Amino acid sequence: MLVDCDPGHDDAVMLVCAAAYADVVAVTTVNGNVGLGRTTANALAIADHLGWDVPVHAGAARPLLADPIDAPEVHGHSGMDGVTLPDPDRTAPGDAVEVLIESTRAEEGIWLVPTGPLTNVALALRADPGLDERLAGICLMGGGGSGGNVTAAAEFNVYADPEAAAITFRARCPVRMCGLDVTHQVTTDATFAARVRGVGGPAATLVAEVVEAGIARFGRYATSTIDPPMHDPVALLAVTHPHLVEGTVAAIEVDTGFGPSRGATIVDRRIVTRDGVDPRVGVTTEWVHTADAPAMLDLIVDACRRWA
Ligand code: BDR
Ligand code: CA
Repeated sequence: MLVDCDPGHDDAVMLVCAAAYADVVAVTTVNGNVGLGRTTANALAIADHLGWDVPVHAGAARPLLADPIDAPEVHGHSGMDGVTLPDPDRTAPGDAVEVLIESTRAEEGIWLVPTGPLTNVALALRADPGLDERLAGICLMGGGGSGGNVTAAAEFNVYADPEAAAITFRARCPVRMCGLDVTHQVTTDATFAARVRGVGGPAATLVAEVVEAGIARFGRYATSTIDPPMHDPVALLAVTHPHLVEGTVAAIEVDTGFGPSRGATIVDRRIVTRDGVDPRVGVTTEWVHTADAPAMLDLIVDACRRWA
């Protein structure tokens, strides 16, 4: 697996699950929840905290076209406010796009799991038109079939770089969208934080602090859920434990216009068009709509036990 992320509280929990359940070739970082310097330092610090010797490579510092946006109201100015992490004792080379390409040349059939804006993914797809054919697929956290969290229409990761998302959804491999429809099913609360804390060890401390930071902040801005959702682990667990999600083949378009629905993902749920055509024929995108939330939360707790 290749993991492309912007830690980010829920990215950190995704990284715990990745370290526990996946064979991760590399972690790549992108500008997103905070600037690239912070997302990269956070990824390095999380890996150090877990004693996880995974290569980390920095990628794009800004979106393809859009002005950068960040999310300090959710993650704080460090990207990991409220979470105690060590200062990383290494730096990351700035070659994420090359790593995405070269890793798939060295080994075909890798899953790419992006949990931040899709800038690195789009740059890699553009730089190497054969990349998508060497991947097993792309399973991303982003978008949503029924509204957004940054705007009424758009989810953060897609809104942050809609042009990159549009390129990604056109990739010629399976592209699974784990958007707000499904991540808002996997929510946490104080009871879950206490359960995780009870496990003990560095991963449990990290996840508990993430959940507690989310509880402290989330109620102030949430529009669709009050309990903090575990967005990014859903995309990771959808690959490592695919029986825990349900999806359906559906064409997905990104609105790259500059109106009120910029960054929206339009999911075609029709089974027949007015011309009598099945719009799903030849489509390689999948809209993930259902998750087994209790099982996913159990997996997060079980992941933490590996460091207890
Ligand atoms: C997504 O946006 C980020 O703030 C989270 O890390 C997640 O990837 C949710 O919209
Ligand atoms: Ca993220």
